[in-house]
Amino acid sequence: MTHTDDRSQVLATPQRVLLACGALSTLLYLAMNVFVPMRWDGYSSAGQTISELSAIGAPTRALWVPLGALYAVLTTAFGWGLWTTAGRNRPLRVVGGLMLAYGLSGFAWSFAPMHLRGAAASLTDVMHIVLGCLTSLVYMLALGFGAAALGRRFRIYSLATLAVVIVTGILLGMDGPRVGQNLPTPWIGVWERICIGAAMLWIAVLSVTLLRTRRTIAPLAANDERRPTEKKKVTVFVGSAHKGGATYRASRLFLDGLEALGDVQGELVVLSDYDLGLCRGCKACFLRGEERCPLQDGRDELLAKMMASDGVVFASPNYSFHVSGILKLFFDRLGFVFHRPRFHGKTYSSIVVQGIYGGNRIVKYLDGVGGAWGFNVVKGECVRTLEPMTEQAQAKMAQALAGQSRRFHEQLSRPAYPAPAMVGLIAFRMARTSIRRMLGENNRDFVHYRDHGWFESDYYSPARLGPFQKIIGALFDRIAARMSKPREGTPLCTPDLPPAAQEHPVEDVVQ
Ligand SMILES: Cc1cc2nc3c(=O)[nH]c(=O)nc-3n(C[C@H](O)[C@H](O)[C@H](O)COP(=O)(O)O)c2cc1C
Repeated sequence: MTHTDDRSQVLATPQRVLLACGALSTLLYLAMNVFVPMRWDGYSSAGQTISELSAIGAPTRALWVPLGALYAVLTTAFGWGLWTTAGRNRPLRVVGGLMLAYGLSGFAWSFAPMHLRGAAASLTDVMHIVLGCLTSLVYMLALGFGAAALGRRFRIYSLATLAVVIVTGILLGMDGPRVGQNLPTPWIGVWERICIGAAMLWIAVLSVTLLRTRRTIAPLAANDERRPTEKKKVTVFVGSAHKGGATYRASRLFLDGLEALGDVQGELVVLSDYDLGLCRGCKACFLRGEERCPLQDGRDELLAKMMASDGVVFASPNYSFHVSGILKLFFDRLGFVFHRPRFHGKTYSSIVVQGIYGGNRIVKYLDGVGGAWGFNVVKGECVRTLEPMTEQAQAKMAQALAGQSRRFHEQLSRPAYPAPAMVGLIAFRMARTSIRRMLGENNRDFVHYRDHGWFESDYYSPARLGPFQKIIGALFDRIAARMSKPREGTPLCTPDLPPAAQEHPVEDVVQ
């Protein structure tokens, strides 16, 4: 395997311990809810709230209070762990701050106990309700920010958890007044346990997810010895021959905004400054390797710039409802990268500059190119530059590009190898299985896949798959194997070259 992750760093033990406190806190709370009620004959987990276990006069109060304090210690430690490992992942840092607040507020509960049902309420009952509302708010905020912290799957999971918390929280709130009136509440314990259970499970999942990625999201403090000394290199390829034109200006604005966010060294590369020949369609790059291209020009220098970058952006004007000719020419010259993707772990985006209409489809196209080449794609931006530009139009463009700089910067600090989307995983498994079974060992795609360890790996990048993804991946390996059975008598290597090219060197057939 040739996978490397130069951005990942193994977490230091204290950080791992702090993060593990999240999962431990969930286990402790679960245990408290199973074992403490056993010490109270007649307590109903379905019909009574968790708070009643620590109510004044409850037989379990003496046991619950110290365990509750231990729980608060664990959640505070988890919050601190999140805060210190979040680095430039701002949403995760906010979750860390909220978890810290949540953990510290845990110490306040013992000063705000409720009374048992039927007993006269006092100030502490009011404090209990206020604390409960504040805790719910903090938790919902944490779920909301958490949704933006760790990629698509975690976002879906966080939002689903938030939905469960809101729905069961409403049901719980509807039963709340009946507790004060000492009326029967046959379901209140169920709603509360689902509500709190979903939230606690989320803490455990977050804790385990961060531990499994085994990397600091990105160290923050200026004097942190783990701080990477090198700035991230971001290259914007300007696909307009209009010197100093709108595409160039938009690219400059984007890059200035990105550099201002810190730790980025940018470069603007104007494609028309390079000698790029028109692709002749010989397919030598596909079949025999890119070095066999008969055109010797600036392509490899540009490709080397992309390979040396942590982030790549393609900027193009909208010319006749598509990218500019020079950018399309560059893509054609890199057509072999669609067969042999190589930019995994790098961040990518696109900028389209247009007069009036058609740019959003170009953004989609450009983002699709980035995805097919293996990049982590940040959705591109389409800006209007209809001349003469009003001040309002200029401000709108600056705002759009500032937002894109910010999103790009955030992606640069996220884990380089996120778990693949299902469609990407399926495409990988189908491609690699067909390539292994149908192409000969001399075929360049076969060699690329073999040398990268992709015939054995889970995915192009060293991303970890969940159990469901593993099952789906194995299933599509089998489906691809069935679909790509080499027919009897068909040679394994069937290069898609014109007949003449199979007999002569590529240089001979491209004339
Ligand atoms: C040949 C050509 C074709 C164009 N086609 C479109 C178009 O289809 N849709 C559009 O909104 N703008 C179109 N425009 C306007 C450009 O997208 C716009 O002026 C852009 O800002 C040019 O960027 P530049 O200065 O970097 O060349 C076209 C401009 C040119 C020169």
